[in-house]
Amino acid sequence: MHDPESIHDNAPATNTSGNRPFEDILNARVGRRMVLGGTLAGALGAFFVSPADAAIRVAAGPKNKAGKPSNRALIDFEPIPLYDGDDMLVSPDYTAEVIVPWGTPLSEGTPEFSWPVTSAAAQADQVGIGHDGMWFYPIGGSNDHGVLVFNNEFGTNPHVFGAELPSTAEQVAVSQHAHGVTAVEIMRDSSGTWDVVKSDRSRRFTPNTPVEFSGPVAGSPLLQNPAGNEPQGTLNNCANGYTPWGTYLTCEENFNGYFGTESGDWEPDEAQARYGFSPTGFGYGWHLFDPRFDLADPGYANEGNRFGWVVEIDPMRPDKKPIKRTALGRVKHEGAATTVGRGGRIVVYMGDDQRFDYIYKFVSERNYKSMTARGQSPLDHGTLYAARFDADGTGEWLELSLNNPAVAAVFSSMDEVLTFARLAADAAGATPMDRPEWTTVAPNGDVYCTLTNNTRRTEPNAANPQAPNPDGHIIRWRDADRHVGTTFEWDIWILASETAGTDYSFTDPDGLWADRDGRLFIQTDGGQPEGANNQMLVANAGTDEIRRMFAGPAGCEITGVAITPDRRTMFINVQHPGNGDPAISLWPGSGPVPRDATVVLQRKDGGIVGS
Ligand code: FEO
Ligand code: CA
Ligand code: CA
Repeated sequence: MHDPESIHDNAPATNTSGNRPFEDILNARVGRRMVLGGTLAGALGAFFVSPADAAIRVAAGPKNKAGKPSNRALIDFEPIPLYDGDDMLVSPDYTAEVIVPWGTPLSEGTPEFSWPVTSAAAQADQVGIGHDGMWFYPIGGSNDHGVLVFNNEFGTNPHVFGAELPSTAEQVAVSQHAHGVTAVEIMRDSSGTWDVVKSDRSRRFTPNTPVEFSGPVAGSPLLQNPAGNEPQGTLNNCANGYTPWGTYLTCEENFNGYFGTESGDWEPDEAQARYGFSPTGFGYGWHLFDPRFDLADPGYANEGNRFGWVVEIDPMRPDKKPIKRTALGRVKHEGAATTVGRGGRIVVYMGDDQRFDYIYKFVSERNYKSMTARGQSPLDHGTLYAARFDADGTGEWLELSLNNPAVAAVFSSMDEVLTFARLAADAAGATPMDRPEWTTVAPNGDVYCTLTNNTRRTEPNAANPQAPNPDGHIIRWRDADRHVGTTFEWDIWILASETAGTDYSFTDPDGLWADRDGRLFIQTDGGQPEGANNQMLVANAGTDEIRRMFAGPAGCEITGVAITPDRRTMFINVQHPGNGDPAISLWPGSGPVPRDATVVLQRKDGGIVGS
């Protein structure tokens, strides 16, 4: 999400549970390690590099065609400097091509983009705005043909239809249809250019698309409205995940901001306050013409409970509705990083991006293949946990169910626990974090999570000596019992402030993805060093080497990462170029407004992207 001066910074921290702030624990933890291990940088860098890890990292290095380790370093591209121009800048070893900008038509007969957007019907069949989390689903295993699925997190009213507030229901629908998810079939032609295929697989999911609920909360009164309206829509789709069975997970983040009311009598209840609902929301004004989003409309009393979920989409089944997987809990989901844990169980790591909110984990009940064979979704049956980080470098996953006495003291049913997962995690004693954004699982089992910043920090400490702390850091942990246990060891992988003055300086880490060689792709969202534009860096998680690969145009954030099966083509997103303001940027074209778009990256020598 657009950061740092807008939505998140204006939103009050809604966690008043009094759980021990992460800063205190970080302070204690880093302080201990500085005593033990000498320099701060040394202490931060090497915590997990045991001989066994080193062996895994070597084994996971690049291979040649014979399967032997190659001599090429994991990262050997020429890095770029900080960049503050109004184009994009990529390493001279790479090419970058813009595809599928906001407004690209998905079917024959759908009009090309024009601005201001006036037709809700047209926008519902064009690529959405606010490109974010993304994955590529090859067709027939191809590296040149597949379905690219990406989130359309947000776009402001002035950017979309040229006014602060909607004055018609059509304008509300235009705004709604710019949000959601885009699935677009793409194919690379003989000249190397990617073209849109206008097939059934190219389709949109918007806040008005029919959806289903599944898992423990499906059928609960908490998801029913007196108006009797069927479940519709997904919105503020931020980061994502992808499953071993070929589906896409889209994550609903700041859903609260699309609700509002003109009623002076409305006040949030405890749960609504914890999720940040307010009369003005983020200023979209959808409630002015759509009663679903009017907080005071008794007919839609539970509409807000229908958002904040992880939603599963099958890119190859255009006939299937998106399914909201309630077992994964309702929070402001940033992403949903999956891995297969011991016993073949699916494990999903998830950040809840707000100051002082939590990191979550879901573990399926059994082996995902046997569950699928029985017709069960592995995402419907399992256990949800929230993380507690302890000062001694260990941590515990706290079960969010009635088995946990602290949760049972507050809630009496699982539909409440999952719908109000933040309050369950408050009760369980989870550790309030500095805005958890993306998580990713490296090939050696380490899990990394970006903590983008926390401008409400008041106490300077050894870990983050600035107060407030605008720069963020990346934490990592290793779960016991191959991701299915309830304990873990953790450490800080890097403090962004430590990179100041280096040739890989960055702040506000947000997007994060580990490839299967152990490269970490780090994408930023916030004011970068020396006023530079947001960027993507590549790190070797084994050696901590970091190089800057790509920078976007002024006012954008870089987010989302997807890759072809051969890893020779990567897709990343440029979100809100110019912050949507044509006076700042017209990227990637000539106007009248800047357009969010996907960028295709390839090594000029045809090598693995990131190398
Ligand atoms: Fe949608 Fe927290 O970024
Ligand atoms: Ca983000
Ligand atoms: Ca962000």
